[in-house]
Amino acid sequence: MLEKEKSKEIDFSKICPSIFAANFLNLKESLNYAKYKGVKLIHLDIMDGHFVPNISFGPKICEDILSYNYFNFDAHLMIENPEKFIPKFMNPSISYITIHYEIKKNIVELINQIKLSKVKAGISIKPKTSFEELINFLKESDLLHKIDLILIMSVEPGFSGQKFIDEVMPKIKKAYDFKIKNNLNYIIQVDGGINFNNCYQILDNGADLLVMGANFFK
Ligand code: DX5
Ligand code: ZN
Repeated sequence: MLEKEKSKEIDFSKICPSIFAANFLNLKESLNYAKYKGVKLIHLDIMDGHFVPNISFGPKICEDILSYNYFNFDAHLMIENPEKFIPKFMNPSISYITIHYEIKKNIVELINQIKLSKVKAGISIKPKTSFEELINFLKESDLLHKIDLILIMSVEPGFSGQKFIDEVMPKIKKAYDFKIKNNLNYIIQVDGGINFNNCYQILDNGADLLVMGANFFK
């Protein structure tokens, strides 16, 4: 099937365009385009230059984007000290705030901080972190039933336009099987290197939401 034909079939409510990959000269047009395609959730990539070797944009630009007033948003915090920034993302338009498991400090407090604000809490793992390690930590910390979203990174975080790491695919299936087996409710989001060809297999493996940057806005 042609890529063009396939892209017509995809349910765009499952696609979360990463605004980081849009041309910032045309932000409004990019949001209009996402609306036209049927997108419901926009992904905000927040980078601090420490947790990842790049810087994206901060609360001021996010505030302007949120004022578009049509979408829900999820904030993917690739930052070393999220406690300072979580309050800035407590906004009625923000559905999920996601922190990284690999920051390895204050995770329980951070998840509680997010949930107090009535925003849903997500936790993300980088490609080299195993699903088992995350689950063991969530069990030990009594967080398993508090997590609303697990974000599985399929590229090393920090940059848009990288290739999907195929070795991550079994991790998506594990996250799905574990969720079903244990009757859990977390959403499975996958982020990095997703295009209109590999998106079907990622969904088949159990993903609920797909972040798409370069391949959505190009
Ligand atoms: C990478 C970000 C991703 C990225 C996705 O650190 O978390 O959201 O921008 O972009 P593509 O789809 O271009 O890999
Ligand atoms: Zn992201």
